[in-house]
Amino acid sequence: MWRRSILGRRWISTSSVYIPGKEALSRPQKPFYTTTPIFYVNAAPHIGHLHSMVLADVLTRWNSFIRQNHPTFFTTGTDEHGLKVQQAAERAGKEPREFVDLASQSFKELASAARISHNRFIRTTDEDNVVAAKALWSILEEKGYIYKGRHSGWYCVSDETFYPENQVTRRQDDGAMVSKETGKIVEWTAEENYFFALSKVQKPLLRHLQENPNWIAPHTRWRDVEREVALGLDDLSISRPVSRNSWGIRVPKDESQVMYVWFDALINYLAAAGFPWKSVQEFEDSPWPADIHVIGKDIVRFHAVYWPAFLLAAGLPLPKQLVVHAHWTMDGSKMSKSSGNVVDPIYTMEMFGADSVKFFLANDGYIDHDTVYSNSRILARHNSELVNKYGNLVMRVCGHKFNIPRALGSSDPSVFDSMPQEIHDLHTVLREDTNTLLARVQTHMDEYQTARALGEVWNLISTANRYLQEGAPWTYKQTTQEPDAIIKDAAEVARVSSIILQPFIPDISTKMLDRLAVDPSKRTADYAHYDADPTYGQKANRKGDYPVSIIDA
Ligand code: ME8
Ligand code: MG
Repeated sequence: MWRRSILGRRWISTSSVYIPGKEALSRPQKPFYTTTPIFYVNAAPHIGHLHSMVLADVLTRWNSFIRQNHPTFFTTGTDEHGLKVQQAAERAGKEPREFVDLASQSFKELASAARISHNRFIRTTDEDNVVAAKALWSILEEKGYIYKGRHSGWYCVSDETFYPENQVTRRQDDGAMVSKETGKIVEWTAEENYFFALSKVQKPLLRHLQENPNWIAPHTRWRDVEREVALGLDDLSISRPVSRNSWGIRVPKDESQVMYVWFDALINYLAAAGFPWKSVQEFEDSPWPADIHVIGKDIVRFHAVYWPAFLLAAGLPLPKQLVVHAHWTMDGSKMSKSSGNVVDPIYTMEMFGADSVKFFLANDGYIDHDTVYSNSRILARHNSELVNKYGNLVMRVCGHKFNIPRALGSSDPSVFDSMPQEIHDLHTVLREDTNTLLARVQTHMDEYQTARALGEVWNLISTANRYLQEGAPWTYKQTTQEPDAIIKDAAEVARVSSIILQPFIPDISTKMLDRLAVDPSKRTADYAHYDADPTYGQKANRKGDYPVSIIDA
């Protein structure tokens, strides 16, 4: 069947859309595909948005670090339709189009200021997103999942969702009706809508969840979703009358309705992967299915229920995993645009440096519990971890009294016999722990525990600093072998740690590796072991040239 597509300029045939079968799914060279949520452009970006970008960036970089040369595809972007954005444009006295063009720019600037490694910044107003939304709609309609009906219920503009009767309550102080979950104002609406037959997908969705207990990380979120889906699902309103919400994508064949904003928002993940595919080849070349959707815990239902339901109904492959992170809080509540308790991430990065902010987010942000945001914490992390521990280790082994290339040649274990037992023991521990660091970090990364992963690196760095302190290689005559043996261990910790830190703090770790004079071709995971590279350190032992320095409060 042929359908009129956007602006009537193009025609899409739903029968010509290629829907991959199971056999098409095992493609060993498929890019590793990661996404962030696409953010509403109703207000400026804050630290919470940067956190999702950073987590997805770290996971993407980590994947290409571990699976050397395996391609990655990474998207972020903005969510620009719907009543919330329409009202924000009205408040700003702008046409929606002009408003979203400007507002999406600030999210783009955030991604580039943080040097996020995304391949595509997708906007729901982009033509390919509009085409994809219409194509998915038409497929679902043809398969009998879309019907028109009368809908009444409590709509929350701030959350862009309807809440069932038992999810709303009257607020004590002013009597307004609000969502129990988010505390945001809801309003009663009764209108004609198109519905998606979510109830028809309940069983296959439940089966999918039960067969894939790792589909959502952390596991507690999976359990919540599984319970919710098991209780049964009501059909979902997926359009709004143009009279209420004109800023949106028109429903195919019905100019009086626009698509529900979450419908055309979730589609972005498919649109960025080239959907609708017109041939097997187009699908083969696509990164779909996504390997990881990084999201905040506030949007689990949309991604864990509605999204897979649309895909199951259309017969499309599901994303492989949702990684759900917790929230940054300020003054006791979630940092959010609508509450106004936000921190400007661009300003923060100007103050502390992009890598130091990214380090803080990965080191203090968790997938399983909220963290209180504080600038003084960023400063403390920068000064104590990045400068005093990591920077100090690198600068000590690069001390001009020492000679790294000569130290690397030190391999006679008997040199430790004359040193205190404690030094001998630390040498053994450091050697072993440097060798196992990558595997230990990987274990935490497999569970998206970036804080624990970084904790492993900093434990090793701290041990190396203690070793230098106790071993005091600067107290020996330079003609003896002891200082070389000690410097070798410490330099190996500095080198291996720096290699492993590249996905987390790409700029600082690169400066450290440059300072250690590690050949750029020897910074891959293959070299993240003790003694794996005997060639670095030429002219590293010069004065000055600090990769990171103290920031005064
Ligand atoms: O929900 N702490 O957009 P949004 C951590 N457009 N992360 C936070 C956060 C906080 N305090 N606040 C926000 C939308 N985030 C939809 C998404 S996706 C198809 C559509 C992050 O602008 C977190 O990832 O409200 C959260 O899920 C997202 O921003 C919500 O951004
Ligand atoms: Mg939100």
